[in-house]
Amino acid sequence: MPSNMGRRADMLPSITSQWTVEGKSGFDSLKPNEKASIPELGDTECLVHFHYASLNYRDLIITKGKYLFGSKIGVVPVSDGAGTVEAVGSRVTRFKPGDKVLTLINQGHLSGAPTPSIVENGGVGGKVDGVLRQYGAFNEQGLVAMPSSLDFKQASTLPVAALTAWNSLYGLESRALKPGDTVLTQGTGGVSLFALQFAKAAGARVIATTSSDSKAEILRNLGADHAINYKEDPNWGETARSLTPDNLGVHHILEIGGPNTLSQSFKAIKMDGVISIIGFMGGYSKNQPSFVECLSHICTTRGVLAGSRQQFEEMNAAIDASGIKPVVDEKVFAFEDVREAYQYMWEQKHFGKVTIQVDSLPESHPFSDSGVVRSETLWRNMSNGHDPSDPVAGC
Ligand SMILES: NC(=O)c1ccc[n+]([C@@H]2O[C@H](COP(=O)([O-])OP(=O)(O)OC[C@H]3O[C@@H](n4cnc5c(N)ncnc54)[C@H](OP(=O)(O)O)[C@@H]3O)[C@@H](O)[C@H]2O)c1
Repeated sequence: MPSNMGRRADMLPSITSQWTVEGKSGFDSLKPNEKASIPELGDTECLVHFHYASLNYRDLIITKGKYLFGSKIGVVPVSDGAGTVEAVGSRVTRFKPGDKVLTLINQGHLSGAPTPSIVENGGVGGKVDGVLRQYGAFNEQGLVAMPSSLDFKQASTLPVAALTAWNSLYGLESRALKPGDTVLTQGTGGVSLFALQFAKAAGARVIATTSSDSKAEILRNLGADHAINYKEDPNWGETARSLTPDNLGVHHILEIGGPNTLSQSFKAIKMDGVISIIGFMGGYSKNQPSFVECLSHICTTRGVLAGSRQQFEEMNAAIDASGIKPVVDEKVFAFEDVREAYQYMWEQKHFGKVTIQVDSLPESHPFSDSGVVRSETLWRNMSNGHDPSDPVAGC
């Protein structure tokens, strides 16, 4: 039995181009390396050739050392990647060479509830090397088959934002979204737009908030029944409630704003509704609502961290069945422009998911000793004029 199926082991690429996070100084901490070695493929691993990656807010703050769940020094960043299986270890049964796959952010979260060790150890692009590299080996259990109805760019947006939206709407099974329910989304980021699309596909009503009238118009075009400009209407929670049948409130809120938006969410929530606590885009506040609000509004607040592999597979089946296409920002960044992609998202210039074409580098030379054709100009650009093999520039 060969140890690798697909290409012969001696024909697999031995090095890869990749980015790593060296330090906590923000996007300058992102360092390119064109000659990272690829360890020998383990028996239960798949070697993935990545084509596209997409960014999440988490990836931005990891470079600033502010990620809640921590990250390792020198990690290959970014959790969300889509690629093709290049080779598989001898004991791999879930995939074969040529299969199209996506990464699971918390590698050990296969089904059911997450455990402390899954959360502590599993985050791809945080404590586990991520997808900003041409080639990466992942345990077969930490990969998911790509929806057949999406291309690599579209599919690369699913692993975190879409899965978080899906888990928020369906993860609490006794309160799973039903046709006719009302969902409130906040802003036009990745999580919120997926929630809008999933909710409409399920026959629910959607009330969406956003910062501008032009974005409100796009939200309506995407199917939102109502769009509220939260800058012009600071009491948007009550406005949202007034838009629901008999003023009873909304069934599900995807709370991406955090402490500063939560008080409005409590004004909008229906009795027995669910507020999924997801993010903190609106910053921190000392005057945030207390747990007593849950009692006075008789609702559930539920922390959500992405989702399990099982939920990911169920979501992908729903995407294929419903024909949902992820909303992807029109600007697609090349692999050498990773820092620009981070900055673009940081400045909130995006609408929908920000994607990076990982295979935009010159073609790999699959059978050469090095595995990658060197492009001096390209990599000098990537490393701000320094040769990345120079130890001063490389760390
Ligand atoms: N718990 C998890 O597993 C999980 C998973 C994914 C993301 N998150 C968190 O969820 C949050 C959103 O993530 P994302 O990937 O969707 O971000 P994103 O794509 O960067 O979206 C950011 C959007 O949020 C909106 N926004 C900013 N401040 C807001 C505020 N005060 N109130 C309402 N909307 C506001 C803006 O849209 P408008 O201009 O239209 O208002 C902005 O475009 C982040 O905090 C992220 O860390 C958590």
